[in-house]
Amino acid sequence: MSACPVFPPPLKGKASLFSLFFKKKRSLLDALYARSYSMKMGEVSLPGIDLYMVNQPDLVRRVMVNEVNAFPKHRMLGEILGPLLGESIFTTNGHQWRRQRDLLDPSFTMVRVQHVFALMQAAVSEMMARLEKEVDKGPFDIDHEMTFVTADVIFRTILSVSLDDKEARKIFDAFVLFQKESPAAALKRVFRLPRWLPYGRRGEKLRLQAGQEIRDALAKLILPRYEAAQNGTPGPEEDILSTILQAKDPDTGACFTFEEIVDQIAMLFLAGHETSASALTWSLYLLSLYPDIQDQAAQEVVRVTETEGWSVSSLKGMALVRDIFREALRLYPPVGFFTRECANDTEMRDKKMKKGSIVVVAPWLIHRHKDFWDNPHGFDPFRYEKGKMKVPMASAFMPFGMGQRVCIGTAFAMQEAALVLASFLKAYKVELAPGFVPEPVGRITVRSDNGMRVILKRRGV
Ligand code: HEM
Repeated sequence: MSACPVFPPPLKGKASLFSLFFKKKRSLLDALYARSYSMKMGEVSLPGIDLYMVNQPDLVRRVMVNEVNAFPKHRMLGEILGPLLGESIFTTNGHQWRRQRDLLDPSFTMVRVQHVFALMQAAVSEMMARLEKEVDKGPFDIDHEMTFVTADVIFRTILSVSLDDKEARKIFDAFVLFQKESPAAALKRVFRLPRWLPYGRRGEKLRLQAGQEIRDALAKLILPRYEAAQNGTPGPEEDILSTILQAKDPDTGACFTFEEIVDQIAMLFLAGHETSASALTWSLYLLSLYPDIQDQAAQEVVRVTETEGWSVSSLKGMALVRDIFREALRLYPPVGFFTRECANDTEMRDKKMKKGSIVVVAPWLIHRHKDFWDNPHGFDPFRYEKGKMKVPMASAFMPFGMGQRVCIGTAFAMQEAALVLASFLKAYKVELAPGFVPEPVGRITVRSDNGMRVILKRRGV
């Protein structure tokens, strides 16, 4: 068996959180102790606000499932993402969220997701053409390719536009900038630093500009289709925007307004490509550490596609490919930390928690907790076979969240990942570039700070 997949070494001594956060990497993953991976609940005092990390399954259910109104999404999330997402489903709460979810749900039913399969296939086939140019050459950054293909999938399935389109490319580039500058904005808020402090000020300006640029470019793409739908002459597109334009509030019969549609599309772009890109890059990293499992998965793809071809149902027959992706989601959950707020004073275990405190449910910790998983830091896609799990999977595996705020795009993401990985495995072998070690960081999603440098070889030669 090969090396254990990387994860940031836990802290040893007592370190100042402030200095840790403001280190070069500015990642929450570097601020964890060995005991964080075995504790039931932890507490951190930040200036003027307390933060609680919750790992214990019944408390996690309290926050995520049973008492969602007592633990709404934290308002800081809305403040940080607002310049890009406006008031979108990812950050809203209460009635506003419920209405948005009711209007968006029809776009993500299993049937709709199957419907966009051909659009996903078109993006993946262009990915294969780009990868072909890298075969048997020197190392390259496959994280860049995974980000590109998942953004392309999102543009095609939501807006029927490909990423080669000039407008789409502009949105993509502005988004990279928005991402880069967001951690500093988050830290300034968490530590309640005054806005006038020079730290992060230039970045904040760039971030706001990038957010506005993305929204303007999206609005330009959406407007003609919105107007056509309003005039009763919708276009021939069969993408997700076409379903969103038709969606009606079950109580009032009202549709989304134009401004609301821009918010939701910006949010789908963010939530839908960054997460999938992260998980796909980590999947390829894990496969490069385990060549035997890589070969086994490639054989599965050949076996299934030779008899059934490429379809939504043939992808479902690739159990090992799915479980490799699950292991990537377990070891490197793209959304590593779910942030909620105490709506009122409350108690958990022996802790008295004040209204406004931050409550964090951390898949990053729960997915590696020794009470729930054997060999928690190791890669083992066979652990999901029947009878092998230490605890019920739903209580310890939550890459897509839990309860009513569970990811709306779960089926979409699983289908996309299976298609990308299976297409890749059938054609190529992936190896890590000699001496390369990725550096996981937790920002908007869990990514490798130094990319993912790999070598590509043709399979079967
Ligand atoms: C591997 C890929 C993905 C992962 C790991 C993932 C993960 C998550 C998680 C953990 C949440 C809940 C966060 C919380 O409770 O704080 C979430 C919410 C959401 N995701 Fe995903 N996601 C993925 C792909 C997608 C895709 C492809 C789409 C859409 C195209 C999408 C759309 C959304 C939306 C709209 C929400 C907000 C749901 C709500 O609050 O009602 N996600 N996602």
